Amino acid sequence: MSTTVTGAQLLPGAPVAEAVLAEVAEGVARLRTAGVTPTLATVLVGDDEASAGYIRIKQRQAAALGFASPHVRLSGSASQADVHAVLGDFNADPGVHGVLLQYPVPEGLDYDRALQALDPDSDVDGMHPVNMGRLALGLPGPVPCTPAAIEALLAFHGVPVAGREVVILGRGATLGRPLAMLLAQKRSTANAAVTVVHTGVADWPRYTRRAEILVAAAGVPGIVRPEHVRPGAVVVGGGVRYAGRRLLPDVDESCARVAGAITPRVGGVGPVTVAMLFRNALRAAWSAAGLAGQS
Ligand SMILES: NC(=O)c1ccc[n+]([C@@H]2O[C@H](COP(=O)([O-])OP(=O)(O)OC[C@H]3O[C@@H](n4cnc5c(N)ncnc54)[C@H](OP(=O)(O)O)[C@@H]3O)[C@@H](O)[C@H]2O)c1
Repeated sequence: MSTTVTGAQLLPGAPVAEAVLAEVAEGVARLRTAGVTPTLATVLVGDDEASAGYIRIKQRQAAALGFASPHVRLSGSASQADVHAVLGDFNADPGVHGVLLQYPVPEGLDYDRALQALDPDSDVDGMHPVNMGRLALGLPGPVPCTPAAIEALLAFHGVPVAGREVVILGRGATLGRPLAMLLAQKRSTANAAVTVVHTGVADWPRYTRRAEILVAAAGVPGIVRPEHVRPGAVVVGGGVRYAGRRLLPDVDESCARVAGAITPRVGGVGPVTVAMLFRNALRAAWSAAGLAGQS
């Protein structure tokens, strides 16, 4: 990759996502040839327009890749039991391989409890407690999408990770915590010395300033500034917040002055995260068809 911003090499997500999706499309075609239609079901609860938009995008993408994608939309007044019943129906349907419950669910519903009603093998987000446990133990299973995306992004752009010091700012369940487990695994694209910092570490810049790879996973716009970055380090922006449709990343753009390589403000980790969802769905279909390990 040769694009630079004031000296820093840019690490865009689009070519990574394209490569992952091309592999997924190939896997889907092979499954279809074997007589299996890979199926990713989606569930949306309530009337949130942004969530409805995300589901539409994922369904279009599913169709383009060759997945069947049945969809259930429950009204905002649906009960927890209603949500569990829909998930239970998908669990019981052998033709459904992956299930996505769109986050967030309306107030009054418990997303984490609903997630636990899902068959862990169908959990394409990789966030079911069983899948977090598998990740901790290094067992096969769906890996949380954003951490998997970051590992893939670094590998694609030829950023060495093994043996290097990675500091993650944030220990959230979606990103920081599973990423720490992933990058500490014994594998050529991981195998790092990982440190996780958070609000309990008042002087966290002491750690981020020594990081060879710094991952922002806090969800606090602009929290990472140039003075927190070791000159020449690789900076990955995972954390984002939205103000309406405007994306507010954790990493201040001025970090590009100091970093050796950096994800772009828009189009970094995000597109790869979506690709990982389909990779998990494909693997679930392979596994259900008794062909695990071929994808
Ligand atoms: N790019 C993508 O595709 C994608 C996908 C999914 C999620 N995300 C983003 O990833 C981010 C993290 O999500 P999550 O659910 O894992 O995290 P989370 O549960 O929101 O936790 C945020 C973490 O950041 C730490 N933190 C917050 N403010 C801090 C501060 N001022 N100083 C030091 N540490 C601070 C928190 O520390 P404490 O634990 O001490 O409170 C916590 O560990 C969010 O912004 C989310 O939008 C991005």
